[in-house]
Amino acid sequence: MAEQYNWWQTGIIYQIYPRSFQDSNDDGIGDLPGLIQRLDYVQSLGVDAIWLSPIYPSPMADFGYDISDYCNIHPMFGTLDDFDRLLAEAHRRGLKIILDLVPNHTSNQHPWFIESRRSRQSYRRDWYIWRDPAPDGGPPNNWLSIFGGPAWTFDETTGQYYLHQFAKEQPELNYRHPGVLAAMLHNMRFWLNRGVDGFRVDVIWLLIKDELFRDEPRNPAWDGVTPHNSLLHIHTQNLPETHLMIRQMRAILDEYDNRVMIGEISLPNEQLVEYYGPKYDECHLPFNFQLITLPWQATVVRHAVNAYEAALPAQGWPNWVLGNHDQHRLASRVGQAQARVATLLLLTLRGTPTCYYGDEIGMTDGEIPLEFVRDPMAVNQPELAHMLGRDPERTPMQWTAEPNAGFTNPNVQPWLPLAKDYKCNNVAAQENNPTSILNLFRLLAALRSAELSLSVGDYAAVETDAADVFAYTRRAPNAHPFLVVLNFGPESHLLNLSHIAPHAKIAAATDMEARGVVDLATLALEPNQGLLLQIG
Ligand code: NOJ
Repeated sequence: MAEQYNWWQTGIIYQIYPRSFQDSNDDGIGDLPGLIQRLDYVQSLGVDAIWLSPIYPSPMADFGYDISDYCNIHPMFGTLDDFDRLLAEAHRRGLKIILDLVPNHTSNQHPWFIESRRSRQSYRRDWYIWRDPAPDGGPPNNWLSIFGGPAWTFDETTGQYYLHQFAKEQPELNYRHPGVLAAMLHNMRFWLNRGVDGFRVDVIWLLIKDELFRDEPRNPAWDGVTPHNSLLHIHTQNLPETHLMIRQMRAILDEYDNRVMIGEISLPNEQLVEYYGPKYDECHLPFNFQLITLPWQATVVRHAVNAYEAALPAQGWPNWVLGNHDQHRLASRVGQAQARVATLLLLTLRGTPTCYYGDEIGMTDGEIPLEFVRDPMAVNQPELAHMLGRDPERTPMQWTAEPNAGFTNPNVQPWLPLAKDYKCNNVAAQENNPTSILNLFRLLAALRSAELSLSVGDYAAVETDAADVFAYTRRAPNAHPFLVVLNFGPESHLLNLSHIAPHAKIAAATDMEARGVVDLATLALEPNQGLLLQIG
């Protein structure tokens, strides 16, 4: 039965932020040869695919999300040869490689933009979004940048403003010009021909903007904190024509075997699921970020899982994301004990799990002294840096207890400081500890791949009378069924789940200690404990 499924359905995706994984040339920044050295570790996790944040040439105004050449590798990360070696070494280990594609904007150093900005008559002018100033000389409309301030920057050379919803160094491409999509499809082919297994497409729901450049209305529900949220983004996000662009991107992937397109989309379920496409001809996986954004409470999460399951179209394959390079670390959001519960949840829900490097060892947000703050989101909005800054979740991987944690030469300054806990919290320390979260992760990944019910089985919520407990079953035909019971709270509970089965065998427990057969009529759940129970 598992053979009927694609690798991106049954597999686990592991996101690597290449700057922070492994440095091999002592410049304090991670690189591809370093990553190759760590592939055995990645394989040991039991994950199936690596999604790499951008590795292309870039002035690094937004750490690679500002690309100046789509068909090459930044020398800081290595060469195309290194990339080919990475691909071969990953494939040899049964690991897929997914690249980050950033089609919405380029770097302002990309030759397209340099040419576009040269003159109003430039043959590339309309590849970007240029507008005359408002009558008062100000920006053409009220659109805001996600990184703070207006989404428009005035360019002296030609006396017009250009659009950027992120840093001013990230001018937005104009997908109403057919040449732009054609060029991006060409870039996709370049990597697909090289053998990459797919793309995670950056802000895919932002590709098209209002043709009339109308002001966006005020958001009546604005909490007064993040300026970008003060408007309702009806003219810059989720426009209907976006789907036409995505279908053409997907058509390119479909020319190749077994590739995946994952869309970065932040929308409520009803709109999110439209990105599967009317004929399942858009994203294979529109990213589902709810486990990151919702309050960590059993009732909230249960409701979210049920609502998402209910919203999915018949052939829409679910997915769940627990962390990424834009959000505070899992263990910092929910605490170490609940990070284990969350890991059990992620790896037993129906749908492809995506986890962020370091979360498998419970890495926490680093403390970033002012002089090290690098993220434009924080640099541009210093008063909100503590909330919005993304440096804390991008600190170097913690491999060992030695200075610089084995990430780079002990005598080198890493590009971001290590999180303070690295001396006790690192891969080496956890490898040999049978109860570590790392070994929990491995056990769950192995079970997920071995047990059909866990990889592809149905999901059904189970009612319990404890508000802090979320329970559900996973079942596939002719396979062991499983019951998952998660305690989101600090109290213990005695549950009667005998309507599911009389007895169950503990297949995994978040503490990595509980074992044996349990009586489901009197199931004792410890504080912050999650159990994966085989019920047949
Ligand atoms: C989403 C990426 O995840 C984020 O890191 C980046 O800053 C923006 N898109 C702009 O590319």
